[in-house]
Formats: sequence, C-alpha cells, structure tokens
Amino acid sequence: MNLLSFIIILSIQQPATTKTAKGKPLPPKAIYSYQSDILPILASNCSPCHFSGGKVYDEYPFDNYQTVSSLGIKLNTRLKGKEKEVVEQWVRSGKLENSSASK
Ligand code: HEC
Repeated sequence: MNLLSFIIILSIQQPATTKTAKGKPLPPKAIYSYQSDILPILASNCSPCHFSGGKVYDEYPFDNYQTVSSLGIKLNTRLKGKEKEVVEQWVRSGKLENSSASK
C-alpha cells in the first residue's frame, strides 16, 4: 500500500475528532509506525524477555514486525498510559510497519 492510499483510508476511517475509549484526546501525532514508534516502546519496556537472548524471544520476538502486528492490541495488556494510547492508535490506523518505506 502506498502512502497516498494509506492517507485516504485514514481520512475515511477517522472521524474529525478522534478520542480514546476514555474520551481523552489522543497524542498529537496521528500516524504511528512500528519502526519509529512501537519498536522503541517495546524495546524499553519489554526487554530482555522479548528481545534477542530473552526467554520468549523464540516464541514472541518483538523485533519482528509480523509478531508484533499479529499480537496487535494484546500488547496493551502490559503497557500503560501514553504508550498504551500510542499502541491503540497504531492498531486503529492499520499497523503501519514503516513510516518512510511506503512510496
Ligand atoms: C520478564 C519477562 C517478560 C517481559 C519483561 C515481558 N514479557 Fe511478555 N511474555 C513473557 C512470557 C514468559 C510470555 C509467554 C507466557 C505468557 O503468555 O504469559 C509472554 C507473552 C506475551 C504475550 C503473548 C501472550 C498473551 O498474553 O497474549 C504478549 C502480548 C506479551 N507477552 C506482551 C508483553 C509486552 C507488551 C511487554 C512489555 C511491556 C512484555 N510482554 C514484557 C515474558 C515477559
């Protein structure tokens, strides 16, 4: 999917004022990607277990987009606050892998 069609899909799916389940406004950045947003959150919160050498790296490697993408909103069972909102928004906006790769 190229960036233009992604933006078109986003604008169709998103109402003008997007809010979280609790009614709080989402963080300002509307489009999150696995590479630039999700991976850093997971790396700082979910190491060492889900990263190379960790005890569940074989089963659930978080440096693997496919794994993280298929877990999706399940990731939020172990996250909180702002990071939870970022994951929620990432899932809702289509789980983009890389913000610059889609040309
Ligand atoms: C101390 C080690 C450890 C850390 C740190 C850790 N996990 Fe896990 N995680 C595990 C183990 C062990 C399993 C497999 C057993 C299970 O399902 O609980 C697992 C499984 C999972 C699963 C799949 C099973 C399910 O619950 O659906 C998810 C999703 C998950 N972890 C998310 C996270 C997230 C997100 C973080 C960081 C915020 C994190 N984990 C940090 C040890 C860890």
